[in-house]
Amino acid sequence: MSDLALPFESRYVPRKRLHDLYRRSIESPEGFWSEQARQLDWFKAWDKVLEWEPPFARWFAGGELNAAHICVDRHVKTWRRSKVAIYWEGEPGDVRVMSYSTLYGEVNRFAAMLKKLGVGKGDRVALYLPMVPELPVFMLACARIGAIHTVVFSGFSVQALADRINNVKAKMLITADGGFRRGKVLPLKATVDEALDQCPSIEHVVVVKRADIPVSMDAPRDVWLHEQLEAEMTFVPPEPVESNHPLYILFTSGTTGKPKGIVHSTGGYMVYNYCTYKWVFDIREESVYWCTADVGWVTGHSSIVYGPLAHGAAIVMYEGAPDYPSIDRWWHIIDRYGVSIFYTSPTAIRMFMGHGEKWPEKHDLSSLELLGSVGEPINPEAWLWFYKHIGQERCPIVDTWWQTETGGMMISPAPGIECVPLKPGSATLPLPGIEADVVDEAGNPAPPETRGHLVIRRPWPGMLLGIYGDPERYRSAYWSRFPGMFYTGDYAVKDREGYFWILGRADEVLKIAGHRIGTAELEDAAVSHPDITEAAVVSKADPVKGESIVLFVRLTEGANPSPELKKSLVDHMRRVIGPIATPEEVYFTAKLPKTRSGKIMRRVLKAVAENTPIGDLSTLEDEAAVEEVVKILQELRQAQAGAV
Ligand code: WT7
Repeated sequence: MSDLALPFESRYVPRKRLHDLYRRSIESPEGFWSEQARQLDWFKAWDKVLEWEPPFARWFAGGELNAAHICVDRHVKTWRRSKVAIYWEGEPGDVRVMSYSTLYGEVNRFAAMLKKLGVGKGDRVALYLPMVPELPVFMLACARIGAIHTVVFSGFSVQALADRINNVKAKMLITADGGFRRGKVLPLKATVDEALDQCPSIEHVVVVKRADIPVSMDAPRDVWLHEQLEAEMTFVPPEPVESNHPLYILFTSGTTGKPKGIVHSTGGYMVYNYCTYKWVFDIREESVYWCTADVGWVTGHSSIVYGPLAHGAAIVMYEGAPDYPSIDRWWHIIDRYGVSIFYTSPTAIRMFMGHGEKWPEKHDLSSLELLGSVGEPINPEAWLWFYKHIGQERCPIVDTWWQTETGGMMISPAPGIECVPLKPGSATLPLPGIEADVVDEAGNPAPPETRGHLVIRRPWPGMLLGIYGDPERYRSAYWSRFPGMFYTGDYAVKDREGYFWILGRADEVLKIAGHRIGTAELEDAAVSHPDITEAAVVSKADPVKGESIVLFVRLTEGANPSPELKKSLVDHMRRVIGPIATPEEVYFTAKLPKTRSGKIMRRVLKAVAENTPIGDLSTLEDEAAVEEVVKILQELRQAQAGAV
């Protein structure tokens, strides 16, 4: 752990301000949050700040608002109508710039089209799109009419897409013919055609023409966006929705089974994102804000769409790969649009670090004022490289810890209030209103400098409403491990100054290049290959991606290990889930190490994957047949040595 502290003077607020604000938020949360909520436009005021029937929270109950109204309409009533809302750059180099008034017009036209095709309040609309401006426009159009969007990351493939559509019984799917990625075209519509064979709820597929590739259109189900949009400007009144009307559902991986549909509210979510974007990013009128995440993840929802647009900020959105056509594409974009706030992932930073500082040095990065990191723990070396070579030792780095479930940032420096001294690798302190803690296995507060479980001790407005259609799973996944506390699934330590250091997942969830994926999903995909009967996944430390996937499989009778089989298995997993499911290593084995109750001993497999000693097995898993496991372990090491 690094104890290097870099103090930054806050830009324009007095010292102690963060401490005082935090204390007030904890001592009188209802007053604090209603003060925050009043900064947004409400059609009707709330009756109650919080209805808390653990573990279900309803924030600003009875209040009515509309997220599209907050992100778009209220800006076009001011001088911001002519301000840039979105600077968009396509991978091939095409540029589109949308002012708030253009965005307003498009959101209205898209909303009118959704209605015309039969989408109404409460209906679920799946969005499977590349990073094109139509994606945020469609999200806002759904929000405008009270429809609930569920964005599926365009890097996911057939089964992952079908499962998500079916879970929410989406009525409409919006996609594109294809999208650009590293100079190639991803054939999205072809994936959709395959997935939809399994999705009876879909009535219409709206297709955005982006890549101009031939696609098959199944009329009358499939329609082109440009043929459906009315040419004239239309006005669709924003539908006032109750604060706890779902704004969206976003799937994320859990410890077991299929991904969970995380449901976010409208009121609590918008209030929480509005204030955290001010606290953490110090977003101001002249900010040009670029978050490099894909809108398919929660970071894109909160940090590209709802957070910055609620502030009327100018955002940058880039369609393609960071290293295309050359490794300085991102630095070129920062220079070109004068980005002042730049938010990215440790994986990206490590990748750029590997290519050296000569690439950022080619560009003028003097517009940058603040840098951010999210998605996985950042190692101090990467932090320092980012600080030095991108921020040029001028810009504070906000290392922001949060999750799909939290809706917004939770533990982070807050230079918009007062920047605390930064420590590379620490997300620093909880934001106002957030009572975070580190507890031991029994749920008691862990002493300083001791690893424990990161928990949140009280509800906050950005907190998920639940898991779509599964209140029991919501209760058991988040509120049963430590009664009365929200279980995050992360390990953390607090240092003697109360700073939080996040150490990674404590559960069977992996973080591959910052992307969250469950071992259960990967194993399901592997065993759906005809030659595989059993599979176990563990991760291995990776110098760039943080973690990479190591897969152990047992073959069906008659199948034989071969390089061809390995390739066919890897291709299969990429086709079922997507490229993020690509195993780095695959081992064929006759047996998997298990406890007597049949649970796979991942610790043994991890030791094999990382080539570390396994230690005393009898103390590790008292239920296991130790000799048996030792034998399997030896066989696995041999298989690894002579791996096909
Ligand atoms: C998990 C949540 C929140 C946006 C993107 C990820 C890890 C997230 C940090 C950070 C260390 C982090 C945690 C968390 N994580 N931010 N700053 N430092 N770890 O959302 O896909 O729901 O993943 O990402 O393990 O639990 P997500």
